[in-house]
Amino acid sequence: DVDGALANTSNAQHFMAGFVRTALRTREQRLNPFPWYRTCLSQGTVLRDETSQSWDVFGYEEAQFILRNHAHFSSERTARGQGGPGNYAPSILNLDPPRHTQLRRLINLAFTPKAIAAFQPHIEAITASLLDDIVKETGGKAGEIDLVDALAYPLPVIVIAEMLGVPAADREKFKRWSDLLVEGPADLRAETLADLVARRAAGRKELDDYFRDIVDVHRQKDDNTLIGALIAAQIENESLSLEELISFCVLLLAAGNETTTNLIVGAWRCLLEHPETMAMLRENPALVDGVIEETLRYYSPVQATSRIVTQDIEVGGQQFAKGDRVVVWLGAANRDARVFEDPDQFIPTRSPNHHMAFGHGIHFCLGAPLAKLEARAAILAMLSRMEDISAVETVLAPIVSGFVYGVKSFPIEVAWVA
Ligand code: HEM
Repeated sequence: DVDGALANTSNAQHFMAGFVRTALRTREQRLNPFPWYRTCLSQGTVLRDETSQSWDVFGYEEAQFILRNHAHFSSERTARGQGGPGNYAPSILNLDPPRHTQLRRLINLAFTPKAIAAFQPHIEAITASLLDDIVKETGGKAGEIDLVDALAYPLPVIVIAEMLGVPAADREKFKRWSDLLVEGPADLRAETLADLVARRAAGRKELDDYFRDIVDVHRQKDDNTLIGALIAAQIENESLSLEELISFCVLLLAAGNETTTNLIVGAWRCLLEHPETMAMLRENPALVDGVIEETLRYYSPVQATSRIVTQDIEVGGQQFAKGDRVVVWLGAANRDARVFEDPDQFIPTRSPNHHMAFGHGIHFCLGAPLAKLEARAAILAMLSRMEDISAVETVLAPIVSGFVYGVKSFPIEVAWVA
């Protein structure tokens, strides 16, 4: 009973998106959802999906309208206490004002472009040391490496672990947990859904226990980590609850992980699909920012988000009713031809490029400056340390998720600068 299984699933996000719908079930469709968006956009900017009983929003303008209008479209998708055993507090991603505003204000300072820019030398040093490790392992010989394992995964996770104040050595565990947080069901059979729900609940409990211990350790000392700052923070003379602290840590860990990995890998997919752009970039490294912006638009690491309608409202000529679920397809809005000329072309010099890969409005990605800085460091370091980078003929395995877009591994052939 699919409906029953869906009703029992803890987190709306895991089934919210079309990656689990009939339109996007195969490996090829997951790897290339863009023709589906094109077909949908030709039928309307807003469509009703009866399977999941929700609205799909594909148009750029409509997506922006919804994300801007947080009073009509709530982010409070996950009620307290859902999510299996335990009593999880929703993170800022799942909160509306006023609590969202209060919590976001607390964490904002740590993530301003200025605060993040101060990390640049450190991010470059981590990148260099990850590349040194590969050279050591391979003896500097030309050959195949997996970009995900070698750099795109460890870089963001080491950075966020250090910011938070958790041992980067635990990163294998983080990988397992954050993979699970974004995993969607491979199909809509009740067994598949029940299995995913059970694994997810177990993973979330492990993560909770892990951070519970970490918070305890930080309580004993005065430190300048993010966890230390959150423990010390007060809103109207009240500290954050333990549950709120844990949810913050879980969100930063998950959000700071998969997404940035997929941006780095996505950028290399684009560069290898467009050798002329790679050559231009080698000539002129300042193009890197355009490459990153265009990758965000073209292979958006987060393809969808969702909202719940709080009051009847019309969008794109359709009547949404209070309580309706809305899936906002950022990946489709980013290819809306009304806003982006030749939307299915990768054009790194595109200007303006107001993509919505980081969302829009009050939930606009907190980590955007950090993600871009990491991607920049990774791409530029690879270009300067590797004299040749080429694609390996392979069948790419897409991540199975309701909203995250990327591949599980990405083998490339590299030759090092002597
Ligand atoms: C929110 C995408 C990297 C932390 C969001 C949202 C999107 C997004 C689309 C808004 C979701 C919504 O409105 O429902 C991305 C992409 C990334 C990335 C594409 C990488 C390329 C990061 C990093 C961090 C981070 C590195 C932190 C270390 C957050 C947080 C929120 C958020 C905390 C919630 C903000 C709020 O609710 O006010 N991200 N993200 N993200 N992101 Fe990111």
